[in-house]
Amino acid sequence: MLDRYIVIGNPISHSKSPFIHTAFAQQTRQAMEYAALLAPLDGFKATVKNFQLLGGKGMNITVPFKLEAYRLSTRLTERANVAQAVNTFRFDGDGILGDNTDGIGLVRDIESNLSIPIEGKRILLLGAGGAARGVILPLLQKKPLQLSIANRTRHKAEALKIQFDVYGNITAGNFTEFSGKKFDIIINATSAGLHDELPIIPVDIFIHANLVYDMMYSSKPTRFLALATQNGASRIADGIGMLVEQAAESFYLWRNIKPQTKPIIALLKALI
Ligand code: ATR
Repeated sequence: MLDRYIVIGNPISHSKSPFIHTAFAQQTRQAMEYAALLAPLDGFKATVKNFQLLGGKGMNITVPFKLEAYRLSTRLTERANVAQAVNTFRFDGDGILGDNTDGIGLVRDIESNLSIPIEGKRILLLGAGGAARGVILPLLQKKPLQLSIANRTRHKAEALKIQFDVYGNITAGNFTEFSGKKFDIIINATSAGLHDELPIIPVDIFIHANLVYDMMYSSKPTRFLALATQNGASRIADGIGMLVEQAAESFYLWRNIKPQTKPIIALLKALI
């Protein structure tokens, strides 16, 4: 019987993870299968336990269950612990190892695929929700000169600064406070795009950036990336590379093998 993995979320039909992991499995000749599973909003734990009892080896967890997944883990990696969110389970006997591969996925996309080193750079992270929290430690581990966290609601950015201060040089504020400042890399981790909204940010921040990155993706440039381009950003990237890289890190946790990501990113870009 093949080793079984799933991605679990609500909604889930849009998920690209089955496509990505099936491609990884073919590429690395792993005897495994990977499917998508819709969990009821009030039935996450029961769905996980059932899959584990049936012999499932691991799963990815997506919206809105990453916090519940964090709480259900019996063991956590450091990056999942500080992110307070889990996107990957590996079932070890009765135990559940919880990991968070989102941040390393972002870092690998920026450094390996886009060839932009993070060390020494000034980074602006927009947003202070779960998506932002998940990438802060992996970004800081790459030793940027400075990480600025800007959020519509200032106190949430402040809270993240306090939590992560020990790991690096962080400043926090609302969007307007960063007007006129220079950044090398700007990352959108707000969920504004999900509601077809744009964060109201000072557009002068884009002019000096070497890279403007949106953790969201869509078939055409996201509204955020279009805004960046209109205001002088020299280079933009959406979150497809991050999506494939976080999947590759989950795959590595399960199979101890690193798949090649570039061909899958190219395939996915052609499909979306
Ligand atoms: P996620 O887990 O996707 O990060 P979240 O925890 O609900 O979701 O956080 C959403 C983030 O997007 C927050 O930083 C939120 O800002 P607030 O803290 O002020 O709510 C941000 N966000 C959502 N819609 C936004 C919008 N239209 N403009 C600016 N920021 C927005």
